[in-house]
Amino acid sequence: MIYKLYASIFPSLYNGLIAFLYILLSSLEYPFLFQKSFFVRRRKNLSLFFNMQIKKSFSMSSRTGRDLQRYNHGCRQVVGCIPYRCKKTDQSSCVQRTPIDDLEFLLISSQKNPRMMFPKGGWEIDESLEEAASRETFEEAGVVGEVEVQEYLGTWSFKSKSQGTFHEGHMFPLRVTEELDDWPEKTVRRRLWVNFSEAREVCWHPWMKEALDVFASKLSKRKEGPHIFHLLSDEGTVVCCS
Ligand SMILES: *[C@@H]1O[C@H](CO)[C@@H](O)[C@H](O)[C@H]1NC(C)=O
Ligand SMILES: *[C@@H]1O[C@H](CO)[C@@H](O)[C@H](O)[C@H]1NC(C)=O
Repeated sequence: MIYKLYASIFPSLYNGLIAFLYILLSSLEYPFLFQKSFFVRRRKNLSLFFNMQIKKSFSMSSRTGRDLQRYNHGCRQVVGCIPYRCKKTDQSSCVQRTPIDDLEFLLISSQKNPRMMFPKGGWEIDESLEEAASRETFEEAGVVGEVEVQEYLGTWSFKSKSQGTFHEGHMFPLRVTEELDDWPEKTVRRRLWVNFSEAREVCWHPWMKEALDVFASKLSKRKEGPHIFHLLSDEGTVVCCS
């Protein structure tokens, strides 16, 4: 009798232990669950979430964990895109070498202030540059399309004023094929489609402006290889990364 009682209790204790370990390990695998922003994100409208199920390769919440971040000689690796489309409504007429004046560019506002910029974010260790570029563009700007890896624009070194750390930013053009009504950072960012000269004027970061210039020069068929730039930071300090 006693033996039977033990036999029935112990397996359930064992199962409980396994379940506990499983939950513990899962939470280690997803440390973002325990960050403040997770609870903010949870409040997001659920219908938004279901709309986004079609975008299977993307998560509806922006990645915020810092533990997967890539570094190169202490420089935080970031990747950004210049999202563009043809001005004409018929996007199929948009060809690879469309002149720059026939294109429109998408800028987004910063989360913390009204400054406009191209989407960019951390390149993480479990993804390629291309994957990081399209993920960040989806999360921040709510557009999807083709990252033109063969049109790599260059790498810029700079010091982030807000984080006070050195960064290396890799930039690509991204041909937008779809603009979504809902996206993870919709409530914290504004989107703005503008022409080339406006984009140059409005874009806050000098290094992103330079990337736009490289894109323009590529389109005008001047042959230029990828660039490695060492730029002034926003504060005007010279930065060297390697
Ligand atoms: C969620 O969004 C849908 C449409 O996007 C809207 O009809 C609904 O009222 C929203 N619900 C809440 C709780 O905001
Ligand atoms: C770009 O847009 C601005 C404002 O809409 C306009 O004044 C300017 O002429 C445009 N430039 C080109 C090249 O289309």
